[in-house]
Amino acid sequence: MLVFLGWIAAGGLAAQTPPQTPLPANDPGRKSFEARCGPCHGGDGNGGEMGPAITGRLVSRDDTQLTALIHTGIPASGMPGNKVEGPELAALVRFLRSIQSRRGDRPLVRMTVETTDGKKLDGLALNEGFDDLQLRTDDNRIHLLRRAGGRFREVTSESDWPEYNGDPRGNRYTTLSGITKSNVARLAPRWVFSLPNANRLEVTPVVVQGLMYVTNVNECYALDAGTGRLVWRFNRPRSPHTLRDAGVNRGVAVAGDKVFMETADAHVIALNRFTGRQVWDSQIADTAQNYFATSAPLTAGNLVVTGVGGGEHGANGLVVAFDQATGKETWRFHVIPRRGEPGSETWMGTELDHGGGPTWFTGSYDPELDTVYWPTGNPSQEYNGDARPGDNLYSDCILALDRKTGKLKWYYQFTPHDLWDWDSTETSILVDAPWQGQPRKLMLHADRNGFYYVFDRSDGKLLLAKQFLRNVTWASGIAPDGRPIKLPNQVPTETGTRVCPSQDGATNWYSPSFNPLTGMYYFQTNEKCSVYSKRDQPEWEAGKSYLGGSERGAPDPKPQRILKAIDFETGETKWEIPQPGPDQSWGGTLSTATGLVIFGAETGELVAADAATGEVLWRFQANTGWKASPMTYSFDGKQYIAVAAGGGIIALAVTE
Ligand code: HEC
Repeated sequence: MLVFLGWIAAGGLAAQTPPQTPLPANDPGRKSFEARCGPCHGGDGNGGEMGPAITGRLVSRDDTQLTALIHTGIPASGMPGNKVEGPELAALVRFLRSIQSRRGDRPLVRMTVETTDGKKLDGLALNEGFDDLQLRTDDNRIHLLRRAGGRFREVTSESDWPEYNGDPRGNRYTTLSGITKSNVARLAPRWVFSLPNANRLEVTPVVVQGLMYVTNVNECYALDAGTGRLVWRFNRPRSPHTLRDAGVNRGVAVAGDKVFMETADAHVIALNRFTGRQVWDSQIADTAQNYFATSAPLTAGNLVVTGVGGGEHGANGLVVAFDQATGKETWRFHVIPRRGEPGSETWMGTELDHGGGPTWFTGSYDPELDTVYWPTGNPSQEYNGDARPGDNLYSDCILALDRKTGKLKWYYQFTPHDLWDWDSTETSILVDAPWQGQPRKLMLHADRNGFYYVFDRSDGKLLLAKQFLRNVTWASGIAPDGRPIKLPNQVPTETGTRVCPSQDGATNWYSPSFNPLTGMYYFQTNEKCSVYSKRDQPEWEAGKSYLGGSERGAPDPKPQRILKAIDFETGETKWEIPQPGPDQSWGGTLSTATGLVIFGAETGELVAADAATGEVLWRFQANTGWKASPMTYSFDGKQYIAVAAGGGIIALAVTE
């Protein structure tokens, strides 16, 4: 039975923009818009044949910026400038502010369907296709349905990926066995979902009970993980005051019926997992102090743990935990000690208030030791250390924090007194494996500074440190006491100093993975050097960067992206895949128990290689400069790989 109910307010989409009264038909601003802009953008700004919908693009501009856009246009894209001034300009800007997205009024159809197990489901059809139907019943549950004759089969996922790395221990390793060395040649795209306004997604999709959650800045989408069909969309206007660097978001974490995500203005929010409605909103830090947030939060026990960006702007790093149920702050760890606190003696200058050490990447969590491991970024000013003699704790560290209290249990600093922007935000993988014959709780970490490290994560004891990049000029090794043996003349100067690795890092936040069956650690590396320069930095100011210098790529050696497989116990390279290309892509890895490593290659392809030998078994040309890492799940009996490529999500599976 099909009953059409017409336009249903607040339909399937949960846009959060506050409702405004539309301006009347004779409003002078509306008239000006219809005449000057409407021919391209549609009379109500929702898009026309020659111009896109601008509804989502207005909030990020203040009135001065909007005026400049109206005056100059975007000649390269075919948008002309307009000489509008005085009262007409004021009226036009006022009208632009009143423009509403029409998407929230999508017509939804009420349907009653019968399932193959004899249930009757009555609800709103969010999408209906040849094979599939997404139905929201009045209890706000989402039913993912597939046609089976005249009835519908309810489908879901059997194996989920509930947070950024799939598992709080940070290892992108799957025991799913649907994709193997013998069938990977038939791996092919099953669906694509494009996000409006996106071109450089860094998100890892998260899948829980049939729904996939993907984000862009201040936007979250819930999709049917088997077809990519939209179930709901959450949107929070971008504030014009957030820093440019806040232009990405890496995804959500899911626990219970909530989806948690960080927003550009350094908040963490909880959304209802089935409706996309906001449940709570808590501030992590103040944007006026140069903070922003881009990472996927980490769930740990009853908490959701978050970090901040802003180190390039002299904002001091914070790790902040919130109660999942209420959004109430539970604890807060200050990465840069305050005056008089332990560690402040490692700042022998004046930088303590703007020392950096941002926390912009997701940490790991060990439920047994009830410890959160959180990585920290470089100190500020990043290229000029004159005002911060000392080690500059706890910049460039891995912090072991008590989950309940946020108290520091131990730490290790990878690059004391960093002058090269080597954030230690690369994922630390927690594995339980035999170490020299004894079972041990280990942490594996390949750092941006060119060295691979193994720790006992119960007490922080360093077990191994080994250079993995060929070109490392700043240190000759790591001494038995854990300190790098620094080499002379490697500090930034006014005229510039060539140092390896480059500012992009020997590796970076793109995901590593570990396969316990091969005993190998897989990660993308970057054989590249930089010329680092320092200069006098004006005093810290809100809204301004705080770098104390600059960096440019060194021509020699020719930059090269290399996937490496290293023996986790020795740090020796077992095999590697050097990739042709300009060395600009940032793709991570996924490891499978069936003996595959799947990664985004420099060539724009998604690649599957034999985990034991490095032989390339499959390639798919996505024509993208990767900025994300692949994940996997199983849905309706089939294993999928999903990855963000450019402005969309691609989901792949083996074809029959
Ligand atoms: C001849 C067609 C045309 C006219 C007339 C026009 N635009 Fe546009 N406008 C475009 C196109 C095409 C784009 C997309 C540019 C892009 O994405 O590169 C655009 C983009 C925009 C954007 C988004 C910019 C961004 O970077 O997000 C805004 C806002 C906008 N226009 C406002 C206006 C306003 C206000 C007027 C009237 C004063 C107007 N446009 C008139 C074609 C037009």
